[in-house]
Amino acid sequence: MAQTTLTLNRTGDKMPIVGFGCWKVANEDAENTIYTAIKNGYRLIDGAADYGNEVEVGRGINKAIKEGIVKREEIFVTTKLWNTYHSKDNVRAAFDKQLKDLNLDYVDLYLIHFPVPLKNVPIETAYPPGWYQPGEDKVQLERSPLHELWPEFEKLVDAGLARNIGISNMNVQLIMDLLTYAKIKPSVLQIELHPYLQQSVLVKWVQEQDIQITAYSSFGPASFVPLGVDSAKKAAPLLQHDDISAIAKAHNKTPAQVLLRWSVQRGCAVIPKSSSEDRMVSNADVTSWSLPEDAMAKITQLDLNLRFNDPSGYGFNLPIFS
Ligand SMILES: NC(=O)c1ccc[n+]([C@@H]2O[C@H](COP(=O)([O-])OP(=O)(O)OC[C@H]3O[C@@H](n4cnc5c(N)ncnc54)[C@H](OP(=O)(O)O)[C@@H]3O)[C@@H](O)[C@H]2O)c1
Repeated sequence: MAQTTLTLNRTGDKMPIVGFGCWKVANEDAENTIYTAIKNGYRLIDGAADYGNEVEVGRGINKAIKEGIVKREEIFVTTKLWNTYHSKDNVRAAFDKQLKDLNLDYVDLYLIHFPVPLKNVPIETAYPPGWYQPGEDKVQLERSPLHELWPEFEKLVDAGLARNIGISNMNVQLIMDLLTYAKIKPSVLQIELHPYLQQSVLVKWVQEQDIQITAYSSFGPASFVPLGVDSAKKAAPLLQHDDISAIAKAHNKTPAQVLLRWSVQRGCAVIPKSSSEDRMVSNADVTSWSLPEDAMAKITQLDLNLRFNDPSGYGFNLPIFS
């Protein structure tokens, strides 16, 4: 039978293996885009404070609930804590703001967006603040360790406000350390994952810890070219890659579906974003069929260890993946 969910540790919650990503969904479109995604069958919405559209994303979710398309418990809402709120004194206020913006009573999964503790910017001063202090053009760190941040996440679980908690953009070293003091183990690690950045050792080790993986930016450079990221501009587009196109043609699928299916078949969830209803629908159709082993093996050969979402690629002195 087709696998459509991943089971999360501790709660046993079934996380949909295909969700909808909210990054770069324009504020004026977000309510309708999210509503349309849910109407077309998406049951996981992946947002973040940093995307600056949680009010509108929340409106889309609530509209779908109000119209009876889904019940709250049938939709899995993920969001993420931004880097400027890592201090144990700032987590709860940041979370409360997000929950209020989303107009929900709880989230299904709350992630630490990046292991980068940036100097706090008060919510009233700028929201979401991005990477800099207002009026400045350099990143500034603050001394907010992960071992103090994680217990604040655990309190959100205890309070019934986050059903599951997890992490993003972390490597084995950090996760190994986190597991030495976590009372509640992370349920999910969200990472950049596509054929140019396969991270097979990380994926295998994390899955062995009973932590599920969500792959982001499944189409590789496509998402980063418009941001002017150098490595993405130089890379051959994955969606038009000869091997991906040939596999797609041979199986009567689109290249996007092949890229998404490749991750799903490795046991990882995917969260594609699209502004087009047709692409939304086809992106969701990746669980009822599979790629044969030779196609998976062909894609394995495309690994370049090439990352696009690296803060140092945006010009910040934050080489967190080194
Ligand atoms: N944790 C993190 O640090 C992190 C970082 C990045 C992303 N994410 C999450 O992951 C989600 C997905 O990643 P992403 O937004 O970087 O990239 P993505 O979903 O891999 O790609 C989005 C781009 O691909 C296009 N696209 C979508 N479906 C397509 C199709 N079937 N054929 C051709 N083009 C297609 C979209 O354009 P159209 O809209 O025009 O279709 C858009 O330009 C985000 O929305 C966000 O929720 C998390």
